[in-house]
Amino acid sequence: MCGIVGYVGGQQAAPLLLEGLGRLEHRGYDSAGLAVLSSGKGLKVTKLAGRVRALEAALPKRFGGKVGIGHTRWATHGPANDVNAHPHLDATGQVAVVHNGIIDNAAALRAELADEGVELVSDTDTEVVAHLVGRSDADTLEAKVSAALRRVEGTYGLAVLHAGFPDRIVVARNGSPLIIGVGDKEMHVASDLAALVRYTTTVVHLADGEMATLTATGYSTYREDLSATDRRADTLDIDPASYDAGEHESFMRKEMLEQPEAVERTIRGRLDERFGTSHLGGLDMDARDLRAVRRVKVLGCGSAYYVGQMGAQLIEELARVPADAEAASEFRYRNPIIEPDTLYVAVSQSGETVDTLLAVQEVRRKGGRCIGLVNVVGSAIARECDGGVYLHAGPEVAVASTKALTTMYVGFALLALQLGRVRDMSIADGKRLVAGLQRLPADLEEALALEDELVPVAERLARAESLFFVGRVCGFPVAREGAQKFKEVTYRHAEAYQTSELKHGPLALIDKTVPTVAIVPEDELADRNVGALHEIAARKGPLVVVTHPGVDLGDVADRTIRIDVPRNEPELDPILLTVPLQLLAYHAARHLERDIDKPRNLAKSVTVE
Ligand code: G6P
Repeated sequence: MCGIVGYVGGQQAAPLLLEGLGRLEHRGYDSAGLAVLSSGKGLKVTKLAGRVRALEAALPKRFGGKVGIGHTRWATHGPANDVNAHPHLDATGQVAVVHNGIIDNAAALRAELADEGVELVSDTDTEVVAHLVGRSDADTLEAKVSAALRRVEGTYGLAVLHAGFPDRIVVARNGSPLIIGVGDKEMHVASDLAALVRYTTTVVHLADGEMATLTATGYSTYREDLSATDRRADTLDIDPASYDAGEHESFMRKEMLEQPEAVERTIRGRLDERFGTSHLGGLDMDARDLRAVRRVKVLGCGSAYYVGQMGAQLIEELARVPADAEAASEFRYRNPIIEPDTLYVAVSQSGETVDTLLAVQEVRRKGGRCIGLVNVVGSAIARECDGGVYLHAGPEVAVASTKALTTMYVGFALLALQLGRVRDMSIADGKRLVAGLQRLPADLEEALALEDELVPVAERLARAESLFFVGRVCGFPVAREGAQKFKEVTYRHAEAYQTSELKHGPLALIDKTVPTVAIVPEDELADRNVGALHEIAARKGPLVVVTHPGVDLGDVADRTIRIDVPRNEPELDPILLTVPLQLLAYHAARHLERDIDKPRNLAKSVTVE
C-alpha cells in the first residue's frame, strides 16, 4: 500500500526523495508529499492529491534540506485530497510523520486529543501520531516517538522528523515493512527495496516492534522501550537494473516478457531428474510429514487466489490429495475448521497482503501448519509461515501480476510433484513432469511470440463494454484470471463463468456487442466446450477461442478468432493458456490509453483489510 522514503546525509533530500517515491508509486498513487528539515529554517512540507510528478511540479523553488521524508498514498482513512496526504504535522508544525498501516484506536485518540483542545485538520489516523509526538514532554525524539507509540494500537511503518532535532529521522515498524539503506555518510529508509537499490544494496530489515534512528553518520536500532537491539546490515545480491523498466514502455510488458527467465529461477536446483521429483528444502517437511498430509487448502487474494485454484487442481490431480483454494480475505471470517492433517498454503507475490497474512495467523493460532509460496524474501507472510518456497520471480512492479503469477503456478507444480511422489505418482509420471517443467521456459517464449497476432484481437475486444471469459475445470481458473487481468487494466466489465453454466443464466446477456473469450484446452472436455461455443455463436456473440492446435472447432471456427497456444504436459497447460490472456488485457488497455502499470483505485500490495 502506501510508500515511505526518507533520507539524511550530505545531499539535498528533495530530489532523492522524489526519485524514491516515483519507484514506490505502484504501491499507492492517489496523493504524495514531502517534508524536509534544515537547521535553523525549520520544517517545510508540500503535499497534494495526485501523482508524484504533480508533487514535483508543485515544490517551491526553495525546498532545501538535507534531512527529509516522503510518502505516496492509497487512501484508507478519508478521501484522497491535499489535507489527507502525508506527511502529517502536529499543532505546532514542528513534527512531521509519514505512515503506512492502520492505527486501530485512531478514533479514540482523536476524541481524546480533541478534548484536550487539539484541532485535528485531516480525516486520517496518522495525524494522531504527529500530535502525540509533538505533545510528549520527553527529552529526546526517540523517547517522544516511543511515548507516542505506547498509546497507539495497530500496524505501522512510520518515519518522524522534528524541527527540534534536525540531524535525524526516527523510524518504527510494526506490521508494515521498513528497510534502512546504509550509504556512505548518508542513510536512507524506505518501505520497499525498490526505492533503495539505486543508492545502496546494504540494508537493515527492521523487525516488528523495532525502532531506529538515522543520522548522516549511521544508524542505531532499539525496541520501542528504547532498549538497544543489535541489528546488522546485510549486503544483498541484487541487480538494481531489475527495478527499472529499461527500454520497455511499461513494467507490465517487461514483466510478461521476463516470464521464461523467472520460471528458470523458480525451478533452478529444485528438480530431481533421477527420481522424477522436486526438492523444496524450505518446506522443512520430510517424506513422513508429506505423507501425513490428508488435504491441502490454498489461501490467497486476487490473482494469487486464482492461481491458487489452478494450483489446488494440480495438487489434487497429481498427488490425489483433496485440495481447494479459498479467498484469504473471506477465510478468517467464517471461523474455519483447522485440521491438523491439512497443509495450508498461503500464496502471495508481495508477502504483505494483510488478508492473506491474517489467514496465516488464524491457521497457526489454531495449530495448523501453513507454508508459503511467496516472492518477496523476508516478507511478513514468509516469516509468519512454518516454511515455504520462495518464487524468485524477481521484483514485480506493475500492479497486475504476470511473472509472479506464473512462478506461483510453477511453485504449485513443484509442491504437487513432491506430494505426489511420496504417494502413488509413478516415477515415469514424475519424470514426465520434470521434463515438462524444464521445457516450460521455451514454451512460454513461444506463447509470448503470439503477441503480434493478438494485438488486433485485443483492440477489437477493447471496444466492448462488457465481456465474458469462460472455461471448464482446469480452464475455469484460467478464465477467472483472464477476466481479472482484463478488468484491472482496461476498466471494462469482464466476468468469468464456467462454460457449462452459461446456459443457466449468462446466455441471456450474449449478443453481438458482448464478446466471449473461451478457454478450450485439448482435453476430454474439448468437444463439450465446442458445443457451448455454438450456443454463443447462435446468439451472434463474438468469440475468441484460446485453444491448442489439436482442437477441432468445427464450423464454429468460421466466425471465431482462434488463438493456438503451445502444448506442454496437460498438467502444465493452464499457465501457458494464461499468457495470451495477459497479452490481450495489456494490448486492450494500451489501445484504450489506460495507465497500465497503475490502474485506477488499485495498489500493488494491499496492507489493509
Ligand atoms: C492486490 C493486487 C492484485 C494482487 C493481490 C494479491 O489486490 O491489486 O493484483 O493479485 O493484491 O497480492 P499478493 O501480493 O498477495 O500476491
